Amino acid sequence: MKTAITELFEIEHPVIQGGMHYVGFAEMAAAVSNAGGLGIITALTQKSPEDLAKEIGRCREMTDKPIGVNLTFLPGFATPDYPGYIKAIIDGGVKIVETAGRSPEAYLPPMKEAGIKIIHKCTSVRHSLKAERIGCDAVSVDGFECGGHPGEDDIPNMILLPRAAEELKIPFVASGGIGNAQQLVAALALGAEGINMGTRFIATKEAPVHQNVKDALVAASELDTRLIMRSLRNTERVLTNPAVEKMIEVEKEKGDATTIEDVMEFVGGVYPKIMQEGTMEAGAWSCGMVVGLIHDIPSCEDLVGGMVRDAEAIIKGRLQKFVA
Ligand SMILES: Cc1cc2nc3c(=O)[nH]c(=O)nc-3n(C[C@H](O)[C@H](O)[C@H](O)COP(=O)(O)O)c2cc1C
Repeated sequence: MKTAITELFEIEHPVIQGGMHYVGFAEMAAAVSNAGGLGIITALTQKSPEDLAKEIGRCREMTDKPIGVNLTFLPGFATPDYPGYIKAIIDGGVKIVETAGRSPEAYLPPMKEAGIKIIHKCTSVRHSLKAERIGCDAVSVDGFECGGHPGEDDIPNMILLPRAAEELKIPFVASGGIGNAQQLVAALALGAEGINMGTRFIATKEAPVHQNVKDALVAASELDTRLIMRSLRNTERVLTNPAVEKMIEVEKEKGDATTIEDVMEFVGGVYPKIMQEGTMEAGAWSCGMVVGLIHDIPSCEDLVGGMVRDAEAIIKGRLQKFVA
């Protein structure tokens, strides 16, 4: 499949694995890139720029295909050493960066000078247009269905993607809620040049997470995600569990007066416990509504290759029939 995104990133399939905290290690990125998609290492999961440099090096030993790095600009409370991480990306020869969170504007110049292509992930048309204006090469348009942070506008991809298509000149991929070939075809029909997946990639053989996490994804339905931190305007879609339900109770009780301290026990430092130790009820972890469509744990090769093959068959078969 050839699209503006496969051309831009010089990849075989228009399928990107979005940055994921404590999932986006070298093993994950290499497996997706080796499958012909674009695998992405999550910078901030690495404790320091030096660790990121090592992770990029490890990934290079596992694949000679293009890889990307996700740089998430966090809302407020902590300021990581972004210039240091950017230096590690540039020195590591990485040519694709997925930015997310706050505007990447202040950090773009050194990356652009190094010839790095930027895909900014955001959840609204206005933020997509801003990304285009400040010089990003592409946008990942993340709908309300998505795992992680859907923003505060609550616009699902059935509306958000065609709205992005109306306004954007740079190419965009559809992100959020995608896990199968039919959805890949739908995303292309709605104007996207490819897709970005998070949750679906966690339930793969190569995802470097505890088996309990993969089993939880297979077991859950589309009814099992919850929105947390709405009261902090830092909404996150997560898989429900007793800790999440308790957190929602706290937020309900405190309402707009909720502070980050009130909910810290449910979100602070829980990722390693869940993703690496498999302690599923340690707290809240990002998960999208697409979990209802996850019924197996394939290899990345089977997932990406299968989706693209089946998408081509849908376009040539079922869709073609309607116009023949
Ligand atoms: C466990 C998990 C962790 C994530 N961590 C990050 C992150 O650190 N930075 C980021 O930009 N996006 C993060 N995301 C969002 C994904 O990159 C992607 O945009 C999202 O998962 C797409 O929605 P989907 O899960 O429905 O495919 C995370 C998603 C998940 C499921």
